[in-house]
Amino acid sequence: MITENLELARVASSTNAPAPLMPNPQNRVEEELREVRPTKLSIEHVSKWFREGVVKTHALDDVSLQVDEGEFVCLVGPSGCGKSTLLNMIAGLEFPDSGTIMSDGKAVRDTGRDRMVMFQESALFPWLNVLGNVLFGLKLKPNLTNKEREEVAMFYLKLVGLDRYAHSNIHELSGGMRQRVALARSLAPNPRVLLMDEPFAALDAMTREQLYGDLQAIWAARKKTIVFVTHNVREAVCLGDRVLLFSPHPGRIREEFRIDLPRPRDINSTDLAHYASEITRALKQHRAEAKTEVAD
Ligand SMILES: Nc1ncnc2c1ncn2[C@@H]1O[C@H](COP(=O)(O)OP(=O)(O)OP(=O)(O)O)[C@@H](O)[C@H]1O
Ligand SMILES: [Mg+2]
Repeated sequence: MITENLELARVASSTNAPAPLMPNPQNRVEEELREVRPTKLSIEHVSKWFREGVVKTHALDDVSLQVDEGEFVCLVGPSGCGKSTLLNMIAGLEFPDSGTIMSDGKAVRDTGRDRMVMFQESALFPWLNVLGNVLFGLKLKPNLTNKEREEVAMFYLKLVGLDRYAHSNIHELSGGMRQRVALARSLAPNPRVLLMDEPFAALDAMTREQLYGDLQAIWAARKKTIVFVTHNVREAVCLGDRVLLFSPHPGRIREEFRIDLPRPRDINSTDLAHYASEITRALKQHRAEAKTEVAD
């Protein structure tokens, strides 16, 4: 609190303008803490079609979603319901046919280092070693000397527990280690938004559990906004503040669950299992309804 008050005092004294009628700094800090978190990502009425020859796929239909700064949102749904398409549009890799996607109040028109994507397959460069792969992500960050880049890369390798492997070749690493390198590479440019598309799907259960712990710690410490796609309901409940259920043909958001469990969460806890079974029941229900709609 003392530091925050000093900070406010410094901001106030650094301007030559007449001093405004300032409320008590302590009240101001408390007021700010009470303020609602700003919306980081705003997806409004987004629809997307893919056309291949005469085949037209309605991938997403009228999808709207607001994600707050620092929020962890998980997207769950059957194959083909448009989860990756939505993530790619937030990343600026694809564009909606109608509707808008805004990041920090600005329309997304391109990729940017404020929004980094991490895919299911780590997509690391096999001709670069571990450090080289993380440094590659830092190319997006201008105004750094080579030495500073290396320091930043090593910081993130340490964060994911791989600093000892900085000079290893990619083919010498296990699948879990590769995903950790990919995570370090996505984190290194310090994006405010991390978009993760089934990043742990190919890993064994033990490695996944470790990474759930690591990711929750990194998210809490580095204040990221995360949109995370998964087929695994327990994983979604373990990680998300909210879990959104999608249904396919066309892809739509059908239901939203707020997960009020303390963190860090243990994927094997009973409370978590209750949420997971409720969400799985809802998924099955939506699937049955979709089948009935097709039959009708
Ligand atoms: N580049 C593309 N060209 C044509 N159709 C596409 C393309 N990308 C996606 N689609 C179609 O759009 C729909 C949504 O695909 P998407 O990959 O977003 O689904 P998903 O929910 O991520 O599925 P999964 O869980 O299997 O990864 C699917 O029917 C898919 O075939
Ligand atoms: Mg996908």
